Amino acid sequence: MKIVVIGGTGLIGTKLVGNLRKLGHEVTPASPNSGVNTITGEGLAEVLQGADIVVDVANSPSFEDTAVMHFFETAGKNIAAAEKIAGVKHHIALSVVGTENLQDSGYFRAKLVQENLIKASGTPYTIVRATQFFEFLTSIAHAATEGETVRLTSALFQPIAAEDVASILATISLEKPINGIIDIAGPQKISLYDAVATALSAKQDTRKVVQDDKSAYFGLVIDDQSLTPQGNAQLGVLTLQSWLATQ
Ligand SMILES: NC(=O)c1ccc[n+]([C@@H]2O[C@H](COP(=O)([O-])OP(=O)(O)OC[C@H]3O[C@@H](n4cnc5c(N)ncnc54)[C@H](OP(=O)(O)O)[C@@H]3O)[C@@H](O)[C@H]2O)c1
Repeated sequence: MKIVVIGGTGLIGTKLVGNLRKLGHEVTPASPNSGVNTITGEGLAEVLQGADIVVDVANSPSFEDTAVMHFFETAGKNIAAAEKIAGVKHHIALSVVGTENLQDSGYFRAKLVQENLIKASGTPYTIVRATQFFEFLTSIAHAATEGETVRLTSALFQPIAAEDVASILATISLEKPINGIIDIAGPQKISLYDAVATALSAKQDTRKVVQDDKSAYFGLVIDDQSLTPQGNAQLGVLTLQSWLATQ
């Protein structure tokens, strides 16, 4: 099976490419580093020639509202058009659990546009929505830092290891398209405050982590439901503690 992984040089993409190659598939990572740019269209038609499956795990280089919308909207349109010509049989994309309820954020508005372009594309698809990666905890901490203090709500979330995301994505990519959404999450619910405090302490980061239930998450007011799967979800195996032990 010929599989193209858009964003195949990123955190999830690198692991996914490795997993699919181990299963014996012909896998091409496609990103600006390998001469494929979904914004300018450079190399896109060429890399998709003969591809059966396309997995899109690319991310915008900028999370600023206008830039991130431009990224996912332009890439989504270019990929859909190129896949139609190439006759791609299954498009898989990585999105975020709760996207439709987090629309006060420019990032999530852009992810919803990406999802809607996929649904309207005519190419059979599976959208995989993941919860926050353990690897993203440091970015959550940075965004919540003022001076030497990190302020975080105790709202629950259900983070997952990138390794588990890549493993579940490999399996789903090789299954039949469901033309729908699958949620994936880590094995445990934990409060944002607890998870970030634990991760920073494990890294001997000396910032003070303070529980502040009025504090926003990237500008969003969230509760225990906002970032956690609300229906069935496929779960990863690595807990925060077991993941930290591997770092
Ligand atoms: N972070 C989280 O907690 C989280 C949670 C749920 C879902 N997600 C989703 O997971 C996905 C992957 O995230 P990640 O952390 O693995 O991303 P990442 O490590 O930042 O990698 C981004 C990838 O996108 C590629 N890329 C950038 N601009 C491109 C372009 N114009 N054309 C083609 N490829 C381009 C990069 O290629 P180069 O290396 O060549 O620059 C790189 O391979 C994202 O869609 C994100 O929304 C993230």
